[in-house]
Amino acid sequence: MRGTILILGACGQIGTELTQSLRKIHGEENVIASDIRYGNEAFVKEGPFEIIDATDRAKILEIIQKYNVSQIYLMAAMLSATAEKYPQKAWELNMNSLLITLELAKEKYIDTIYWPSSIAVFGPSSPKINTPQDTIMNPTTVYGMSKLAGEHWCNYYHNKYGVDVRSLRYPGIISWKTKPGGGTTDYAVDIYFKAIEESKYECFLSEKTMLPMMYMNDAIKATIDIMEANPNDIKIRTSYNLAAISFTPEEIANEIRKHIPNFEVNYKPDFRQEIANSWPQIIDDSKSREDWNWSHNHDLVSMTEDMLKNIQSKMISL
Ligand code: SER
Repeated sequence: MRGTILILGACGQIGTELTQSLRKIHGEENVIASDIRYGNEAFVKEGPFEIIDATDRAKILEIIQKYNVSQIYLMAAMLSATAEKYPQKAWELNMNSLLITLELAKEKYIDTIYWPSSIAVFGPSSPKINTPQDTIMNPTTVYGMSKLAGEHWCNYYHNKYGVDVRSLRYPGIISWKTKPGGGTTDYAVDIYFKAIEESKYECFLSEKTMLPMMYMNDAIKATIDIMEANPNDIKIRTSYNLAAISFTPEEIANEIRKHIPNFEVNYKPDFRQEIANSWPQIIDDSKSREDWNWSHNHDLVSMTEDMLKNIQSKMISL
């Protein structure tokens, strides 16, 4: 790699751990974290950090030149539930940040872009079980619309201008270091924290709502693997289906009960239920497995053990 890496949205759920993993590989000073505001103080001090609004082209370009950036990971986005509350703002952030980054690559200021897409690109008319890479896609959420449009922009810039942009359709990501915000799959993080803190949880999705999910360690591995892959192996330039596990709130609660037997959950679906109902349940990610050798490590059992262990030790150290 000729220059450094810039992470936009580094203080978010995925951005934080991605920054730390990339710093382990490339060295602290070669990975520039940035966000629209300061996040966790300890994280901000771990290496170079800049305040950047991902829709501010001039600022992004200034930082590219300051640090000789050659790769951007564009992790800033408004997720599904928040985007339903602020549709215009979500569209603006999710689309403008991507178009600016693609243009900067077209103009050869940077070489490579990573941009996450989501299972939200699928809609109520997509097959719910083993959802194929290419199928009917009529998303009904603003978030899904922005991700599907974004995928096509990525493909367009690749075909038309040779831009090396790579993308994955993340399922719900489960982590303990940084909490997600504004997503429909966030319950699957909150449930672990509440199980430990209060032994009870009120779930905003119904007990039988199955969604595709993944442990953070696997999501980071997938992201780094696709970025390290030979460009010729990346045959899909919209975005790759990516999968690990699928479960319902009832199944995750039962798994937690193996460790915390008195854990109680009651179900009070809100507006996020409709979003979840429009998404797939199980994703077919065979193209990722074939093209760039994707494989996941964590299932519901090992993820639950790891989540509970880490949340407990995090609480003791506070
Ligand atoms: N986790 C995201 C959300 O729930 C889906 O990509 O919005």
